[in-house]
Amino acid sequence: MRSVIDVLDLTRAEVEELVSTALDIIANPKKYSEKCRGKKLATFFFEPSTRTRLSFEAAMYELGGSVLSVPGASLSSAAKGESVADTAKVVSCYADILAMRHPKEGAAFVAAKNARIPVINAGDGGHCHPTQTLADMLTIFREKGHFDNLTVGFCGDLKYGRTVHSLINSLSRYAGIKLVLISPEELKLPEYVKRETVIPNKMEYVETENLEESLPELDVLYMTRIQRERFFDVAEYERLKDSYVLTAEKLSLAKKDTIVLHPLPRVNEISVKVDNDARACYFKQVENGKYMRMALILKLLNSAAENKEKTPLNCEKSLVFEKCRCKNPRCITSQEQEIEHIFTETSNGGKSVFRCVYCEKEAENK
Ligand code: NCD
Repeated sequence: MRSVIDVLDLTRAEVEELVSTALDIIANPKKYSEKCRGKKLATFFFEPSTRTRLSFEAAMYELGGSVLSVPGASLSSAAKGESVADTAKVVSCYADILAMRHPKEGAAFVAAKNARIPVINAGDGGHCHPTQTLADMLTIFREKGHFDNLTVGFCGDLKYGRTVHSLINSLSRYAGIKLVLISPEELKLPEYVKRETVIPNKMEYVETENLEESLPELDVLYMTRIQRERFFDVAEYERLKDSYVLTAEKLSLAKKDTIVLHPLPRVNEISVKVDNDARACYFKQVENGKYMRMALILKLLNSAAENKEKTPLNCEKSLVFEKCRCKNPRCITSQEQEIEHIFTETSNGGKSVFRCVYCEKEAENK
């Protein structure tokens, strides 16, 4: 069964094929309005969501399918202690495809390993958010016409912003991408993203704390919210929460054709006065998300019907390493004791490093 946990579970050609399908849906919506007749999408959102959940549900309705929805963890059997694995097995008895959001990193991976239906990761903790990236990619394509040779500024919470990690993964497949990583010291892009994605793909990058100085060179500015729910220390959140605010005056420093993206929700990091600027594309991004989710649902249901693709979860390459434990308190393995701790082996400066397959953080010795 084919699932999408990380945007890298889709090849570059597949992402581009989804962009083409989405453009065709926009041009010919009637052609798609019965494609999923008789099919059911289950949405399990164990964290707050407006756009992602509604766009998945709208996508399925516009394809002629229907939706089964659990309104939050507190009203599902998760509140009674049901594991993610059991939930995935149960949902497989009712639905044809599952979209899951969960606060723990790697939860969607666990669901995909146990489900008999395709699973789409709709956000797992601070880890990944592949369908937001699909929305971002369609927006970049519609506004810029290409993915190569772009200078992309990511601003705000690059540590916990899962949409940032996923979009960098997706852009890493294109030539001439320059990343300008704008964040406070405490919220810098995780080392593993730099080491495993940015550096091996020879992406040019700079890290800075200064938004104003960076603005003039950007083709795309990707603003993010400081992710309050990921902080264990409230005082630290309070200190960092107002780090960046994009105002109309600041945006005047940017090029005429810079586009401003934001996965939303916005708190205060983009002034509402920016909304009327033609460069503000974040509400277009919301709409594009629905079309890309339609394209993805279609693709995964078609591949499930043909049943020719196995889950692209990298289990064959993985190993259970008795001496290591994942110590990341945000990892699904910290919540569910029976999940095997599995790692992939990578190297850091010639030294072996074991990375948890669920949350991608480095293992620590037991
Ligand atoms: C993002 C998310 O959930 O990670 N929102 C979304 O899905 N559009 C960004 C965020 O919550 O800051």
